[in-house]
Amino acid sequence: MLQKKIATMINNQVNKELYSAYLYLDFANYYAAEGLDGFAHWYEVQAQEERDHAMMMRRYLIDNGLRVIFDEIEKPVKVFENTIDPLKAGYEHEQYVTALINDIYAEAFSAKDFKTMQFLDWFIKEQGEEEKNAEDMIKKMELYGYDAKGLYSLNQELAARVYTPSATGPAM
Ligand code: FEO
Repeated sequence: MLQKKIATMINNQVNKELYSAYLYLDFANYYAAEGLDGFAHWYEVQAQEERDHAMMMRRYLIDNGLRVIFDEIEKPVKVFENTIDPLKAGYEHEQYVTALINDIYAEAFSAKDFKTMQFLDWFIKEQGEEEKNAEDMIKKMELYGYDAKGLYSLNQELAARVYTPSATGPAM
């Protein structure tokens, strides 16, 4: 049985991951409207991954005999003025999510909840990758994105992202 505080934190994180999916779909909506279909596709794939994260946490709670409670999903409110803005907002968001996952990990550590720590290991690694991806996108945009040919190539590169389900991620 999980400690109540840890269960509540993971339940809240389900909501944050679903919000992440919603946020990234909002980015995709913005890029689709700007005619940057590769960028839009990249964030559509990212939204699918975020939904997977939510499902993995939901499953962990269920497998531990808990009732998952859904909350409202916050509305994404950012207005973008420049095509680099969502990339920067995405990086900030991933840093925020890393901090949330770290908080759950710290709680599990102090409770000697080794099972939850092991479950979260996958997410700790995933956050490292997601922050790096977000940073790389900003770097590439700064290097190539302000030139029409460069932006075209970058859009093509992002269009090639393939969705790989992460449903088998962490051991339960
Ligand atoms: Fe599920 Fe992008 O963190």
